[in-house]
Amino acid sequence: KVTSDVRLVDVAEAARLLPERPVAGHKGRFGHLLIVAGAPGKTGAAALAGNAAVRGGSGLVTVAAPAAVHDILEVKLTEAMTCPLAHVDGFLATSAEEQILELLTEKQALAFGPGVGQGDDLRNLLTVLLPQVELPMVIDADGLNLLAGQLGILQERKGPWPVLTPHPGEMARLCGLSVAEIEAERFRVAKGFARAHNVVLLLKGARTVIAAPDGRVRINSSGNDGLASGGSGDVLTGLVGALLAQGLESFDAAILAAWLHGRAAELVAAGQGAAGMAASDLLCQLPVARRELS
Ligand code: APR
Ligand code: MG
Repeated sequence: KVTSDVRLVDVAEAARLLPERPVAGHKGRFGHLLIVAGAPGKTGAAALAGNAAVRGGSGLVTVAAPAAVHDILEVKLTEAMTCPLAHVDGFLATSAEEQILELLTEKQALAFGPGVGQGDDLRNLLTVLLPQVELPMVIDADGLNLLAGQLGILQERKGPWPVLTPHPGEMARLCGLSVAEIEAERFRVAKGFARAHNVVLLLKGARTVIAAPDGRVRINSSGNDGLASGGSGDVLTGLVGALLAQGLESFDAAILAAWLHGRAAELVAAGQGAAGMAASDLLCQLPVARRELS
């Protein structure tokens, strides 16, 4: 009989996962995250992920975005650095692959997907990167949509388990079930997918489920409906990436990120209410949520 390891994540469980933070640490000690994100009309997704990674404690953050939106991100982002990905006639150039591989030589983790779009240029990029990049990584949003239909490439992955963070709609595209079927059996679907594809699967929604390929499942208990607004998922992506860059293992990074993200929403709601919460309101509360655990 398969033993089951299913637990609710509470404050004590989250606190156990907190990465060390030596008082004499310098920025190189806390990791450098590369985020591939953004496209026309979706620069906010890239900016939110970048700023969330900064607030998530990553020592350095670089956002690589298609050249068409690079200058906009330069203005939106202050602490995070930016890099323009080569493009030709509005599409990523094939040289963007080498650019990213070069950028990754001095990074500790990769976050791929918020607002990148679903063009063939991006699909090719992900198809090339997944088997080659051995760093810890989180894939979200359009990155997941690009992955749907070619899940086989996950088996070519050499690094630690990638973290996938679908909302139920993205999960439906990934696994071919309907949203209703997924919502009716959130644990079983997340657990089965994690095992079948060798990934940490974080299935979003009130009571986010996090499943590992070895059968462990965690259910997050923080958060509120203030998170039900555009961009809050992009904050989560940056936060998972930041925790990976700080050295947490994939499953732990996903659990702790879900906790901190939900707790930040509770802190925002305590001050101004949940309705009308903007994803960017979460950013300054992420360090506060983290301090509560230390
Ligand atoms: N209670 C608790 N948490 C919630 C609730 C709720 N009622 N509603 C949403 N959340 C949390 C989810 O668990 C998740 O962490 O808010 C976050 C929402 O993430 P996404 O669904 O990814 O939303 P968003 O940031 O708008 O996504 C941006 O990327 O995924 C694509 O299609 C999406 O274009 C959109 C973009
Ligand atoms: Mg999203």
